[in-house]
Amino acid sequence: MATALHWLLLGSLSLMIEHSVFWRGAFLIEGREFGWREWWKNTIIYQIYPRSFMDSDGDGIGDLKGITSRLEYFLDIGVGAIWLSPIYRSPFVDFGYDISNFTDIDPIFGTLDDFDELVDHAHDLGIRVILDFVPGYTSDQHPWFVESRKNRDYRNPYRDYFVWKDPKPGCVSSDPRECIPTNWICPFDGPTWTWDETRQQFYYHTFPKEQPDLNYLDPSVREEMKNVIEFWMKRRVDGLRVDAVAFIIEDYYMRDDPPNPNFQPSELATRPQYHSTLNIYSHNHPDHHEIVKSWRREVMEKYSTEPNYRFMMTEAYNTPAVLVDYYGTDDAPEADFPLNFQFMDLHAKDLSGTAIFNLVDEWMQNVPDGKWPNWVVGNHDNYRIGYRWGMEYARAANVLCLLLPGTPTTYYGEELGMDHIKVMFEETQDPWGKNNPCCWEEYSRDPERSPMQWNMDKNAGFSTAEKTWLPVNDNYKMGVNVESEQKDPTSVLSLYKALARIRKQRPAFHTNTMDYGIVSDDIFSFLRRPNPDESDQPSYLVAIHLGKKTIVIGDYVSTIRANGVTINSSEGVVEISSRMDRNGETVNLEALELTLGEALVVRIGKDSPLKTEL
Ligand code: BGC
Repeated sequence: MATALHWLLLGSLSLMIEHSVFWRGAFLIEGREFGWREWWKNTIIYQIYPRSFMDSDGDGIGDLKGITSRLEYFLDIGVGAIWLSPIYRSPFVDFGYDISNFTDIDPIFGTLDDFDELVDHAHDLGIRVILDFVPGYTSDQHPWFVESRKNRDYRNPYRDYFVWKDPKPGCVSSDPRECIPTNWICPFDGPTWTWDETRQQFYYHTFPKEQPDLNYLDPSVREEMKNVIEFWMKRRVDGLRVDAVAFIIEDYYMRDDPPNPNFQPSELATRPQYHSTLNIYSHNHPDHHEIVKSWRREVMEKYSTEPNYRFMMTEAYNTPAVLVDYYGTDDAPEADFPLNFQFMDLHAKDLSGTAIFNLVDEWMQNVPDGKWPNWVVGNHDNYRIGYRWGMEYARAANVLCLLLPGTPTTYYGEELGMDHIKVMFEETQDPWGKNNPCCWEEYSRDPERSPMQWNMDKNAGFSTAEKTWLPVNDNYKMGVNVESEQKDPTSVLSLYKALARIRKQRPAFHTNTMDYGIVSDDIFSFLRRPNPDESDQPSYLVAIHLGKKTIVIGDYVSTIRANGVTINSSEGVVEISSRMDRNGETVNLEALELTLGEALVVRIGKDSPLKTEL
């Protein structure tokens, strides 16, 4: 445990020194040390969409040197790990998720040397680097696919690298192209089988036809992909976000997915719709867990030597009850956590304290004992929070994400309250928008991928180009940018920094548990308490107004007591208010007032001991 003197010393040194303590193995926090295998529990994971973060060479597209030039920003805002969406060689049909070389950097982003420099600099600052690992498919330009599609000759070493199938047996059509092997539909809508004239077979692609799926039944594919992980581990990558993991193995018997009896077709849609079938054979084959376990056991563990634990999180959209399987078991561990997308499908019309409670509680109920939760409010595949919940809740969303028990993921710009942009069809970049001219706005993910807003300069300081790959949101001129928000003590960024500090410094936020306070249509609130051996440390009430009323007043004391939790005072001190205008205010927890969209982080007990100032 760090002493007060220790903290005084650390506090008076620069943040950089604080982080280098972290790098040596365990980050010292008041009241608790996280071990070297747990670094990912005590930090925020920040998702960078590399095309949109920082452009160093003026071509209008972000790159690695750009990211390196901005690494100090993460020290300032309290982020200890960055996750980069794909940076590998790619024709960019799906903006880097279609990979033509898994072990090289695309020239748009730079070189392997640039990557090494980024890692070096990040590690010097105590920042971990997590890569997107895309195991399920390649680009159709990948040499493996180029070779595989040439012929079915058994001497072709790449023959079975992809999921090749003959026309469906029993199909009566004289045109083999009409005899698709199964009725499986792409998660973004559209077909999943493409006929190849040369091989006279279909190949399977979960996503666009330019992204053929790898065949994990071929042992060479399994070996190749382990080698890919190994390559990046050797380059000192600290962890992986495993992309689209539930799609890597399909039904061995090629059974059709049954129709979805509850499907409501969209009148506008022109392509087969994903939800028209129940995707039980195409996705989520149980055997894919064995593969993830083998990555953990055979590769990640091999490189997890003190102090460099290699972390893994998985991406799959499903119910919490299904997703928790990705934690694996004590004997056969898998990911450190499956990404938790509970908040993604919640939209303004359904937003309420009760709705948030239901989503949070469902996740918490399912997390196995001893495992660590995590929270996500946005990413590159979903509209930003302003569109989904409304900008008036953007601050509250950060409070939720950073102060619920577990590890938060921040999508770049959320810390500023960045909003989505509008992109017309002619300007649309995302294949899912382009493929659906009828209703591109429903599909396109361009709105949430606009360039990072750094300052008031041209293109918000993102790039010196005449035209950036996606337009910059004009609201950077109204102060939604890093530089302006740094100067404003009431900005979303100032709030974010305060939240990052409190979750790191106060033991109450270092556990994987919580208790609920008032939960109603207007309010979602919860209590964070330190472990019993740190009971001299303060507890916190986090109360958030997610309703539609202008003001709500609640008696938190009675509710918390009714929930069986003893609290030592009905008075509290607001340590952080989401608008940063009530910090320091003494409040009565029996009649605590919140205005619409407001969140308060209240230290319970006016005189609770504090070892350090925030
Ligand atoms: C990624 C998407 C991508 C898809 C297909 C997903 O899981 O997050 O951005 O479009 O994989 O490659």
